[in-house]
Amino acid sequence: MPPRRALLFIPGDDRRKIEKGIGLQPDCIIMDLEDGVAASRKAAAIETIRATLAAMDFGRSEKWVRVNAVGTPYMPDDLRVLDGSLPDGIVIPKVESAEQIKRVSSWISHYEPAEQAGSIKLIAIIESAKGVVNLREIAASDPRLVALCFGAEDLAGDIGAIRTPDIHESAYARGAVVIYAKAFDLQAIDTPFITLDDEAALTREAYSALEMGYTGKLAIHPKQIAPITTVFTPNASEIQAAQRLIAAFEQQQHSGSGAFQLDGKMVDMPMIRAATALLERAKMAGIPIENI
Ligand code: COA
Ligand code: MG
Repeated sequence: MPPRRALLFIPGDDRRKIEKGIGLQPDCIIMDLEDGVAASRKAAAIETIRATLAAMDFGRSEKWVRVNAVGTPYMPDDLRVLDGSLPDGIVIPKVESAEQIKRVSSWISHYEPAEQAGSIKLIAIIESAKGVVNLREIAASDPRLVALCFGAEDLAGDIGAIRTPDIHESAYARGAVVIYAKAFDLQAIDTPFITLDDEAALTREAYSALEMGYTGKLAIHPKQIAPITTVFTPNASEIQAAQRLIAAFEQQQHSGSGAFQLDGKMVDMPMIRAATALLERAKMAGIPIENI
């Protein structure tokens, strides 16, 4: 799976912002048709996104489109964005059942030429109580699904919670999204951070997501791309520590011991798995491991 660390939301009716976003080359660009676009601008946004997909070179950034929720009057009409050059995937908001994903998957297949059948991927945003309760069936719903995304603002609204700086009102949901994602080999993407002028707080929130097992985070402004990408990319000292741990482990295995001591701490299989996972993430991010 390609790394999806920072995923930049851009209102789909704003060609200037889309061009700016592409210039910044985040892992993913998500052109929005849902809440980032006024009702009166939805039709214009579909046309802008289609034109952009046809004309622009997105470089190394994946191209995604967030449609409106299944069951709204905008769907499946929003999928007209697929009538031309195909994006890499569709982000579906407010997902509450496997059935909704399967419907989008089948609608999408009508736009895919035979040689590209199944190529369009899906990300499901979980941002309601029903979505959380049905995580298991949602995570298992369709082979197109590559990631689950947690949405804190809508969830707080849905359950009548008060948004807090450390998201403790949705601690269960934020934990559940990453657990179900990992159980079904999906990536897990954290909620956007909506304060635009506090990079330290953004970095803390991204770090807390990383600690929980999240693999990326939504971004809503160009200046959020670099801090988020940095948090989700292992740094040189983390990579070195992981390599040292694995080397020590291999040596101990040869001498016949499973658990051993390194720098005053016990080391056994779970730490080795974590170190291996960190090196995997580094490789996915394109870091040449041998040279570090
Ligand atoms: N993608 C690409 N470019 C963006 C951007 C985004 N999400 N947000 C801002 N920019 C651009 C602006 O156009 C501006 O470009 P310029 O210097 O060439 O004029 C520059 O970055 C600085 O923007 P700034 O003035 O700080 O913000 P703004 O007032 O123009 O926009 C928001 C603020 C919140 C409206 C904007 O960041 C935005 O639209 N975010 C995404 C909203 C969204 O999609 N929401 C739905 C998902 S939660
Ligand atoms: Mg939302």
